[in-house]
Amino acid sequence: MKKQVSLALLGCGTVGGGVVQLLHQNAKYLAERVGAPLEVTRVLVRDPDKERVPELSRDRLTTDPDAVLGDPTIDVFVEVMGGEEPARDYVQRAIDSGRGVVTANKMLLALHGPALVDRAIARGVDLAFEGSVGGGIPVIRVLREALASDWVTSLRGIVNGTCNFVLTRMQKDGKSFDEALREAQAKGYAEADPTLDVDGHDAAHKLTVLAMLAFGARVDHAQVPTEGIRAIEAIDHAFASRFGYAIKHLAIGRDRGDAVELRVHPALVPVDQAIANVNGVLNAIALEGRALGPCLLSGRGAGDMPTAVSIVADVLDVARAKRNGAAGLMTRGIQLSERKVASLDDVETAYYLRFEVFDQPGVLARITGALGEARVSIQEMVQKGGGDASGAPVQVVMMTHIAKERDLRAALGALAGADFIARAPHVIRVVE
Ligand code: NAP
Ligand code: HSE
Repeated sequence: MKKQVSLALLGCGTVGGGVVQLLHQNAKYLAERVGAPLEVTRVLVRDPDKERVPELSRDRLTTDPDAVLGDPTIDVFVEVMGGEEPARDYVQRAIDSGRGVVTANKMLLALHGPALVDRAIARGVDLAFEGSVGGGIPVIRVLREALASDWVTSLRGIVNGTCNFVLTRMQKDGKSFDEALREAQAKGYAEADPTLDVDGHDAAHKLTVLAMLAFGARVDHAQVPTEGIRAIEAIDHAFASRFGYAIKHLAIGRDRGDAVELRVHPALVPVDQAIANVNGVLNAIALEGRALGPCLLSGRGAGDMPTAVSIVADVLDVARAKRNGAAGLMTRGIQLSERKVASLDDVETAYYLRFEVFDQPGVLARITGALGEARVSIQEMVQKGGGDASGAPVQVVMMTHIAKERDLRAALGALAGADFIARAPHVIRVVE
């Protein structure tokens, strides 16, 4: 067997710990696959005294980035520290030094992915990022390799395990938002800053990465419309279920030719669709290929070991490519061109609208009148509460037919400030 493959970890928290454990558990088998043992020789962290997985030798730890990035014996850098800076600087330095990089950092890729891909191609090294989307689900490989012969026309995914875990806990176990989020954090699913999860930014980062591979799109990530799950209440789950839907946090992408439609938001999904039944920390990505038709990938989308599976598989690919004189080949296959992100105003979809209104004569007529004026047609409607002398607001829920977002917003704008409205309406898009 040849000389070892030396790995440097940039960061060793939840995911890095999983990588160390997986490398340890499968050491013999992995060495056979690469033709040399894989050895973690340097580990960059912030706090060298923190408790870490027992498989990690403490003598590998350092807080000095130059000691890691300047070590000429490293073959592959594994960036699992997260965030934009200094991760970008370190990844660039690793690429410039001619070594392959594996990263799970979707924020970095969403903000700088195309530039980093260009840089890696120019330097003839690989930049691999299977762990950045879908945890252990091999969606990046599927898009980059298995579907390379086809055009992906659209995708729809549950790509944030924390959001799916929280929504599932609220829906099925009656947990509060805060209780469910604390549980997700304790299990290691959430980002270091969990607002990235629950406000939708993590899913938007992943959607931007998926769009690079699915549509070859180099987009301005800031243009991706993004909404999180904080506004979803128990009553929305109950109404959704009554109408035959589940509420999921979705990342949606569509190649419209003139632009790519990319959006992240909670959505009502019909319960008879597979994706509506993907629960807990599971992720799922439904792809639609022009020749292939539908394809659904599902699995554990967050956590140390599922993500480590993707990262170590990338390490194998990068190490083997280098040994076989094919370094940079898989990254050269990523072809990107500038694409415009379609405005949300032009999106056409159906809507779930929940109005909290005072139960007075003429209220329904005012609401339906405003919607009708704006060409938004109602498909189904239900009122809950009222009929007593308390004067408490009632819930009026409407499911619309497909309408333009611009028109819906015009209708809601016309109703804003009306004296019969107790609280701003809740709007959730519906997917069919
Ligand atoms: P984490 O538990 O917070 O670990 C981050 C690690 O990076 C820690 O070891 C930390 O050092 C180190 N670090 C951070 N900033 C540093 C700096 N400036 N200098 C040196 N070391 C630094 O995060 P994680 O959950 O493992 O996530 C890591 C990456 O994987 C992120 O990009 C995340 O988005 C991605 N990811 C996470 C998951 C998941 O389920 N958690 C799944 C897929 C992808 P200390 O330990 O000393 O604090
Ligand atoms: N915080 C992320 C999630 C980790 O909850 O899905 C996986 O990328």
